[in-house]
Amino acid sequence: MSVSSEVSAEPIEIKFSHVVAENTPKGQMALKFKALVEERLSGKVTVKVFPNSQLFGDNKVLEAMQLGDVQLAAPALSKFKKYTKKLQLFDLPFLFEDLAAVERFQQGEEGQRLLNSMRRKGLQGLGYLHNGMKQLSASNKIRVPGDLAGKKFRIMSSDVLAAQFLAVDAVPVKKPFSEVFTLLQTKAVDGQENTYSNIYSKKFFEVQEHITESNHGVLDYLVVSSRDFWSSMPQDIRLEVEKALAQAIVYGNGIAAQKAKEDKQRIVDSKRSTIMTLTPSERQQWVKAMKPVWARFEDQIGKKVIDAAIAANQ
Ligand code: LMR
Repeated sequence: MSVSSEVSAEPIEIKFSHVVAENTPKGQMALKFKALVEERLSGKVTVKVFPNSQLFGDNKVLEAMQLGDVQLAAPALSKFKKYTKKLQLFDLPFLFEDLAAVERFQQGEEGQRLLNSMRRKGLQGLGYLHNGMKQLSASNKIRVPGDLAGKKFRIMSSDVLAAQFLAVDAVPVKKPFSEVFTLLQTKAVDGQENTYSNIYSKKFFEVQEHITESNHGVLDYLVVSSRDFWSSMPQDIRLEVEKALAQAIVYGNGIAAQKAKEDKQRIVDSKRSTIMTLTPSERQQWVKAMKPVWARFEDQIGKKVIDAAIAANQ
């Protein structure tokens, strides 16, 4: 093939669809990825980022990926149930003590193995991205598990998260992220669980008077593509794209650490919502109520993986 026909070849287009705002760890990671790829592979690869569920919501994006309508996404790890049961691990309440433990697990052998857990479904995990630990927000004060009884809580589409709320007699309501603000504002649900950056960037704190700093679970992402698309890229280009992605993830993780603190402070400063911390004995009550959920999902997730996650806390 002549040089001129190579030069005139259409660039590879990567559509990156996500559901959060741009001023979040994932939003910033996606923009960094675009900048790095377009700087290094100018004319060969273009990246189009679609934030705020503009292109696809979380319930559609993986199907769209299998059909080739989108090439990159980073759904929360709670949203892969249709494709693998193994990633349910990350939803087990009070499994990881903090993000450092999550990071140790993800970079370890079992964590890396999970990247390949959907290969048979045609999806390839490319890396993990942090957001942060989840907090509870509600229209009433939530201090002990009994405060959740009968309350409707929006959750992501995860059976573990449903079981977690049922364990404290709450009513879990599975809904896409794009609907959460309206559900809270109209009081169709009483509360939800999320990280400070999502509570801040989507203005949930403006319609939820109370936040409980429970740190009861993690909200992290799996950056994912279709195996067909990923392997269709010429190797030299793919390696360069992978390098850019790894760097963008490191950048996004830095933003995650920063936002967990800054967005919490912005919520405090707004005075729209009061953040409550738990005493060790109150926290213990939550652990006691929610941890029995683990046993119900052990067979689906695998004991070895759960043990590796527990070990990452040390
Ligand atoms: C949610 O649905 O609450 C989160 O998964 C949104 C996100 O991607 O952070």
